[in-house]
Amino acid sequence: MPELAGKHILVGLTGGVAGYKVAEFVRELGRAGASVQVMMTEAAGQFITPATLQALSGRPVYTSQWDARPDNHMAHINLTREADAIVIAPASADFIAKLAQGRADELVSLACLARPQGRGPLLVAPAMNREMWAHPATQRNVAQLRADGVQIIGPDTGDQACGEVGDGRMLEPLALAEATIGALQAKLLAGRRVLLTAGPTFEAIDPVRGLTNHSSGKMGFAIARAARDAGADVTLVAGPVAQATPLGVRRVDVQSARDMLAAVQAHVAGCDLFIAAAAVADWRPAEVAERKLKKDGSGQPPALDFVENPDILATVAARSGAPYCVGFAAESHDVEAHARAKRLRKNIPLIVANHGPSTFGADDGNLLLIDASSTLALPPADKLTLARRLVAEIARRLPPRTA
Ligand code: C5P
Repeated sequence: MPELAGKHILVGLTGGVAGYKVAEFVRELGRAGASVQVMMTEAAGQFITPATLQALSGRPVYTSQWDARPDNHMAHINLTREADAIVIAPASADFIAKLAQGRADELVSLACLARPQGRGPLLVAPAMNREMWAHPATQRNVAQLRADGVQIIGPDTGDQACGEVGDGRMLEPLALAEATIGALQAKLLAGRRVLLTAGPTFEAIDPVRGLTNHSSGKMGFAIARAARDAGADVTLVAGPVAQATPLGVRRVDVQSARDMLAAVQAHVAGCDLFIAAAAVADWRPAEVAERKLKKDGSGQPPALDFVENPDILATVAARSGAPYCVGFAAESHDVEAHARAKRLRKNIPLIVANHGPSTFGADDGNLLLIDASSTLALPPADKLTLARRLVAEIARRLPPRTA
């Protein structure tokens, strides 16, 4: 089932070159199953035409509060009562200032003011020159919007249309769509702090070689995204993987198991939940050669000695005041029995088992959740869907926060 099936999104454009990205954003929302209604200011029409957005959304675009089409002549009321979420993209500095003051002299700001507070989120995607973004007036206005419950998404940093480089680029269409989907998820982990490990570790043998495990990081990154969407403050300690960091997630990149343990120990204090999704190498070479080990012509491979790596999950679980700990068990056979034994050995309340070889690098999988009193099979699905279900199951089990 697409993530926005049955959802209706009201997209408001204000003046900005980034308006061209909204054409793709509207398509992404449609791909995710949403119906989309577009409204735009007069300035937005200088950058992209209503005709383009009408064609992509399949609905006539609203450009004025004086639009005579609605019988009651109240477009701002009708549009906001239908919407599950409102997304303003691009949001100009001027529009943000208007919103902060609660002004309503044209349709888009009028709709934002008329939106019922409890009906759904209002997301604002700033797009402006870096100096305009950094200006104290803009920062003051953004802080006011946050205090008013508006979700500010972005801006990104990078090349700007004016030729300068810095903060103020609007998010890309896919990131806007991800943020919209995220804003509509149940906030099951609101106020919770979550620490996660993901990806493999890399244990150096010499400057060019090393030992590692199969792990794309997809499952761990999907859990980070799902936990963020559930309202958690998320820190993700990642081994070497090629995965994009979910927006708003704090990421710490590491190489070896010992680096991963150090990063986890540096961030674990105050966390409610620790999820160890990383495929940590069990052993590392006892010595790391300073120079590349060369073949010497004898046909004899170099003798390597190994030492065991620290068990990060067991270390965290053994702390006094440990967070709720969730482990993973990727097994090649007897999945349930091995996972059950591993849960007891590591002294953790919940373990998530899967069939290792068939899940490595895949977009889909299935999971078995094992705790002290139950076993629950999550049916096959894509990893983000599994991650959302896992987060919901963890949220049910999480002890209430103490003061
Ligand atoms: O012992 P095994 O590697 O099978 O256990 C898997 C679980 O333990 C995973 O959650 C993994 O992230 C975690 N683990 C760890 N540190 C290790 C080995 C595994 O945190 N050194």
